[in-house]
Amino acid sequence: MNSFNPPVRILMGPGPSDVHPRILEAMSRPTIGHLDPVFVGMMDEVKTMLQYVFQTENPLTMPVSAPGSAGMESCFVNLVEPGDEVIVCRNGVFGSRMLENITRCGGKAIMVDDAWGKAIDPQKLEDALKANPNAKIVAFVHAETSTGALSDAKTLCDIAHQHNCLTIADTVTSLGGVELRVDDWGIDAIYSGTQKCLSCTPGLSPVSFSDAALEAIKSRKTPVQSWFLDLNLVMGYWGENAKRAYHHTAPINALYGLHEALVMIKEEGLENAWARHAKHHLALRAGLEAMGITFVVDEADRLPQLNAVNIPDGVDDAAVRTQLLNEFGLEIGAGLGEMAGKIWRIGLMGTACSQRNVMLCLSALETALGTSGGVEAAATHYKG
Ligand SMILES: Cc1ncc(COP(=O)(O)O)c(C=O)c1O
Repeated sequence: MNSFNPPVRILMGPGPSDVHPRILEAMSRPTIGHLDPVFVGMMDEVKTMLQYVFQTENPLTMPVSAPGSAGMESCFVNLVEPGDEVIVCRNGVFGSRMLENITRCGGKAIMVDDAWGKAIDPQKLEDALKANPNAKIVAFVHAETSTGALSDAKTLCDIAHQHNCLTIADTVTSLGGVELRVDDWGIDAIYSGTQKCLSCTPGLSPVSFSDAALEAIKSRKTPVQSWFLDLNLVMGYWGENAKRAYHHTAPINALYGLHEALVMIKEEGLENAWARHAKHHLALRAGLEAMGITFVVDEADRLPQLNAVNIPDGVDDAAVRTQLLNEFGLEIGAGLGEMAGKIWRIGLMGTACSQRNVMLCLSALETALGTSGGVEAAATHYKG
């Protein structure tokens, strides 16, 4: 056995996205104890910067020591008790994962479906809440990674609150890439991931809980069935004024990486990061459309960081992706679930969201598809 040396790739799929060298360098710094006062000081900074990227003052804002799926589970296991009715707005793969979580918590999931590729229809949520007056929670995916659709989180939260429901939002793909305002929009429990628009390595899940969510957790009638994710226990380590009691050994170097990623977003400015994602998406769009490639999602609901496009007729999905990987070191994503074989998912996430990558991707696609016009259209777009 030899050391593992991965090839250098450019990651333009649905995530993970390219990790900035500054973040990798931060992660290689010396490991110190997870209760070391210096480390605890860094944890506080991570919390403060997460509050910034989430646009919240929630004291209970922290990274769960596991990937986005654990952040998802953290929200559901803490808020859903056996017998609770939870409305899930589903418009892609990740809504079905919510259903799985709720069922395993002993809750009753009420599914409100929209077509894949469409944003969630607020009217359907309103109707479902009227038909299910005992519903306690409304859950939805803000940015559906399987289709590239962005939903109107503020409107969904407003409707949920009018019916006295708490809200759970999946923002794994949206955080850092599009506007997201936890407090202004009234999101009660939110989870995300580090491997997309934060440009960090996978394996951590930023979460945040409102006071109302915290109140619900504290007044549970039954204990949370997951020991590791029980926030009542986790708060002893991450919580406000916590004595930082041992709960689990924190992923120390991974947290150095997240700290650096957050410092970089602070330096750029959150709104500038959102604007950068929008800018390069428009250039990529100009190029793709010039090549005759069409988008899955209506223009108004498109995620700039996840461009889902229809694979042109007669094109071999896997052969093109393999060619891009082998000849250009470029990874784009395949379709998931019912979209497998029908679409490509081209990510422009975090540090990978750049003019260089837009031009490279278009040039690689021109070669693989034997077409032209994409690079030129994007270049014209950039010239304004
Ligand atoms: C919308 C959404 N939710 C949840 C997840 C799960 O995150 P992870 O793979 O980090 O566990 C993903 C991952 O791609 C996602 O895109």
